[in-house]
Amino acid sequence: MSTVRLVTLITGASAGIGAAFADTLAERGHHLVLVARRGERLEALAERLRGLYGARVDWVALDLAEPGAAERLIAWCDEREFSIDWLINNAGLGMPGRLHDSDWREHAACLRLMVEAPTELVARALPMMRRRGCGTVINVASLAAYLPGTEGHTLYAGIKAYLLRFSESLALENRAAGVRVCALCPGLTLSEFHDVTGTRELMAKLPGFMWQRADQVVEAALDGLAHDRTIVVPGRFNRLTKRLARLIPERLALWLAARESKRYRQL
Ligand SMILES: NC(=O)c1ccc[n+]([C@@H]2O[C@H](COP(=O)([O-])OP(=O)(O)OC[C@H]3O[C@@H](n4cnc5c(N)ncnc54)[C@H](OP(=O)(O)O)[C@@H]3O)[C@@H](O)[C@H]2O)c1
Repeated sequence: MSTVRLVTLITGASAGIGAAFADTLAERGHHLVLVARRGERLEALAERLRGLYGARVDWVALDLAEPGAAERLIAWCDEREFSIDWLINNAGLGMPGRLHDSDWREHAACLRLMVEAPTELVARALPMMRRRGCGTVINVASLAAYLPGTEGHTLYAGIKAYLLRFSESLALENRAAGVRVCALCPGLTLSEFHDVTGTRELMAKLPGFMWQRADQVVEAALDGLAHDRTIVVPGRFNRLTKRLARLIPERLALWLAARESKRYRQL
């Protein structure tokens, strides 16, 4: 008899949107595998979800920016006979500053974390999903994927635009095989993101209607999946911003993005 267990793997589950996915999906009966660097956070979350929902939760502390991390994560799952049924590529951060101001190694780590690792995890999980005829991939991109690039956080918009386009192609390639792919494009979300970038004080000046809670973002993603949407932009304000960014002339969009980003970024 097969002992293979279908699991939902969530990267960046120690905080914010990833932790909110863990909460919602544990309640819905998923067997979770949580991944992030802070093992103590994952352990506490796993304990809480087991207690609250009787959920099956495993976790592994891993730095996904390290070379070879995605391969090691898949090997870790294989050793336990875990087959990835849902893959939520969520781990990410913003790196303040301009490209020329910081060490290339930091940017390279950023690319490994937010481009290479998610792409490799999908590539390695897909064959089994396709063989089973079902599977779900959620790539957490950003509303930034639709907005012009700005000064500072140089790689961020480009990385998120990549995740968006990558998801669109994946969705087309795998729909007939029963694998759903969704690019989740949140706008400003209450999480630890802006503490990590050191911009909390500046961002706190933005009005409340621009912000969403992480659990609202997760609900929108799951609703989008249920309606077979490849792209989910949670929240009315964010959907309006996306539409406007596409309607107004490119030069005006660039000018507006440049002006606004200077007000809310530390360069
Ligand atoms: N918050 C927003 O306004 C916003 C808007 C649009 C998109 N997003 C995207 O949403 C995703 C989640 O962000 P969030 O807002 O929930 O931020 P958050 O609260 O800071 O959570 C980020 C998660 O990523 C993990 N992570 C960071 N570096 C990692 C690494 N090297 N290896 C493994 N895990 C790592 C963190 O865990 P450890 O520190 O424990 O490793 C944490 O669990 C990101 O991809 C972000 O770009 C956020």
